[in-house]
Amino acid sequence: MDPKEIIAKLQLLTGQFAEELQKQSTEQAIRDLQAAFLSKKGKIGELQKSLGQLSPDQRKDVGQAFNTAKQAITQSVADAIDGLVKRAEDVYLSEYFDVTLPGRAGAKGSMHPISIVMYDIVDVFTSMGFDVAQGPEVETDEFNFAKLNFPDDHPARDMQDTLFVEEGKILLRTHMSPVQIRSMMARPLPIQIVAPGAVFRRDDDPTHSPMFFQIEGLLVDKGVHFGHLKGVLNTFIHQIFGADVQMRVRPSFFPFTEPSVEVDIQCIYCKGEGCRLCSQTGWIEILGAGMVDPNVLEGVGIDSEIYSGFAFGLGVDRVAMLKYEGISSIKLFYENDPRFLERFRR
Ligand code: PHE
Repeated sequence: MDPKEIIAKLQLLTGQFAEELQKQSTEQAIRDLQAAFLSKKGKIGELQKSLGQLSPDQRKDVGQAFNTAKQAITQSVADAIDGLVKRAEDVYLSEYFDVTLPGRAGAKGSMHPISIVMYDIVDVFTSMGFDVAQGPEVETDEFNFAKLNFPDDHPARDMQDTLFVEEGKILLRTHMSPVQIRSMMARPLPIQIVAPGAVFRRDDDPTHSPMFFQIEGLLVDKGVHFGHLKGVLNTFIHQIFGADVQMRVRPSFFPFTEPSVEVDIQCIYCKGEGCRLCSQTGWIEILGAGMVDPNVLEGVGIDSEIYSGFAFGLGVDRVAMLKYEGISSIKLFYENDPRFLERFRR
């Protein structure tokens, strides 16, 4: 056979292959057909053997034609198999799925109730000119206790109450008050901040969680007095609980404030009548506060003869439990059961 004849035969076989390929309906049949043409004993394979009779020059051109033909066949086999898979998928989809049905929406996340309440409270204070300040959750004894005027033998410094990272030195902050110290050391006077954040204590029962949230407030300026503290807290209580909710101040003790007070609001369920929630007292405690102890001011280099300040620390969980009726345990806030969290979507 001369080169022309071989190429003509090759074209014939290629055409024949394409025609046969159309008729195949399974992957196996397509593979068999491919073998029947391309394997050594296949139709094209056999024809290729006639290359041996050609001169080296002729063999080069004709050999090229064989390579091109074989590549084209291999590609058409791959396309044909893809086509089969696609057709099978279409059949499957149309038989088993009603593509006209509306889809199911995925569950959307929402803000955690503690975050909602925290943002609401912070908004009230920022609208009164307070800046938001932050501090680390892992604190030093220095900031959490020493600079806050806690004596060395204060029970809060005990392992019983505090979660230590390194005994007596590094701990998980037990309150937000270390941010007072950090702010007074870092900011120019006057200072007016609120610091929301997580705090940690060795407590675990239906009304106490080992982690909970507080918001600390601090204002230091010339001539600040107790009336300013009461005014700010009154505004906060009215904005959060309602304009008709009364507040009450009771003497208390904190090492870092003098005088110190505890602030109650009138029970928002019984309006002061006395009920189970307020233990029949008509009042519910929501925060601790006081005038910054001169020792604390001096400890951070502020002249207590010129400057004075007030501070307060409130429990966000407590406020959240009051705002959202019927929460039986503070733990519900931290278990993150979606059925519970969904109630607060807004
Ligand atoms: N840090 C106190 C506590 O956690 C609360 C407090 C803050 C009291 C600021 C007075 C002033 O109990």
